[in-house]
Amino acid sequence: MRTVAIVPAAGRGQRMGADKALLDLGGTTAIERVVATCRGAGIDDVIVVRRGDAAALPAALGVTVVTVAGDGEMADSLRAGYLALPSDAARVLVFPVDHALVEADTVLALGALLHRAGVGIALPLFRGRPGHPVLLTRQAFAEIERPGAVLRDVVRADRTRVQAVATANPWVHADLDRPEDLRAAVCALHGEPWSTVAQMFRHRSHRSYRPDPVPHAQLERLVDAARHASTSSYIQAYAVVVVTDAAIKHDCARLCGGQQHIVEAPVFAAVCADLHKLAAACGRHGTEVQAQSLELFLQATVDAALLGQNLQLAVEAEGLGACMIGAARNQPIELAARLGLPPHAYVVFGMTLGVPADDPVPRGRLPLAGVLHWDRYDARVEPVLDGADEVMRAWARRANAEQGGYGGRPVDEHKGWTERMARAWGADSAYAKARRTLRDELRRLGFGLE
Ligand SMILES: Cc1cc2nc3c(=O)[nH]c(=O)nc-3n(C[C@H](O)[C@H](O)[C@H](O)COP(=O)(O)O)c2cc1C
Repeated sequence: MRTVAIVPAAGRGQRMGADKALLDLGGTTAIERVVATCRGAGIDDVIVVRRGDAAALPAALGVTVVTVAGDGEMADSLRAGYLALPSDAARVLVFPVDHALVEADTVLALGALLHRAGVGIALPLFRGRPGHPVLLTRQAFAEIERPGAVLRDVVRADRTRVQAVATANPWVHADLDRPEDLRAAVCALHGEPWSTVAQMFRHRSHRSYRPDPVPHAQLERLVDAARHASTSSYIQAYAVVVVTDAAIKHDCARLCGGQQHIVEAPVFAAVCADLHKLAAACGRHGTEVQAQSLELFLQATVDAALLGQNLQLAVEAEGLGACMIGAARNQPIELAARLGLPPHAYVVFGMTLGVPADDPVPRGRLPLAGVLHWDRYDARVEPVLDGADEVMRAWARRANAEQGGYGGRPVDEHKGWTERMARAWGADSAYAKARRTLRDELRRLGFGLE
């Protein structure tokens, strides 16, 4: 039974500002993706409907192109496609190029529905809402020939012949309409197949990387996405310096306690609190930014941290790995100078990122009861500390058993979280000592902390 896909791709793409068929989805055009999906689902032929003055499609697509006059209205395109159907086409798949992210499994599921007796139209549902592509028997599709008929009329004419299949793919419903949709589509195609929350549970810091570079376009997209975090009073008091230059990265590593993964990673991103733009905005209007304010320091630092966490999550969602680098505050003045930061800016933390070469044992976290409180804080801390010690010891046992330890050395399986924290942040804290000059350094960088 011959099935032919009709791909309406004749619109002017005014909201998108581009010809949708030729949108670059990160290496392939939208029309190439639709055709590949059709082929993958066993569709026999593909008819693409274009405006007469539209640009040529990529070569070797192996499709039939038919043209329509005017603005490429959907109904006109479908009628033009109908007239071009081979005489033995028994089923028609209407697959607008706007839905290029639909997968072959959806098309196959539609095909299975149409085998059922009495079914003339099969369409996909995402969360109860119908979408595209729509598969019809030739007989049902022929109703598009009626003057003024649109596909919706054909579907609604007789509900008893319509069957739907639920899919988890939101792109059956969402379409490529605006530039934001294109950005989301490229992200969806490059992302991990996990939900955002599942991705959060999968987090691990990576400290070893392959040399593969991360494309600049991807870095730009990740930082662009990350900066859409909430921002205190809309001040957007942050900046990110993305370092890929080997010599600068080497210096950053030296200034961040000599951490080798900063040298190894293809990218070191310095996440900065930045009042420089705010200072200039105030200057433009004849006043001076209150950079001495502790509140403003906190706002900028929180803003930067939110961006940074968003960035790490975005990086992980695209299958890369990352590790935040608080050691960027070891020598903040030298690091700011090396990165050319203006006054009123400092690196809150850095971040190594790239294709991970390690597979760290997940760290686990404190028992949730120590973090999540209902209505009132529950200060009973002893069971929480016992649980935290056990989480740490379990991690050490697993790291020793599976990876011979951590960082090339066996981990003490008896030492719990409390003992480690007491050593790190108790009276002899090396961390505290290393950062005892931090307040003065931040002042020299233009933050008053008053
Ligand atoms: C602000 C911040 C700074 C950090 N600095 C460093 C660092 O300088 N070097 C490092 O190896 N890890 C650093 N980390 C990573 C933590 O050690 C890591 O998140 C923690 O041990 C929990 O492990 P996980 O992220 O794998 O779950 C930092 C994390 C944060 C949030």
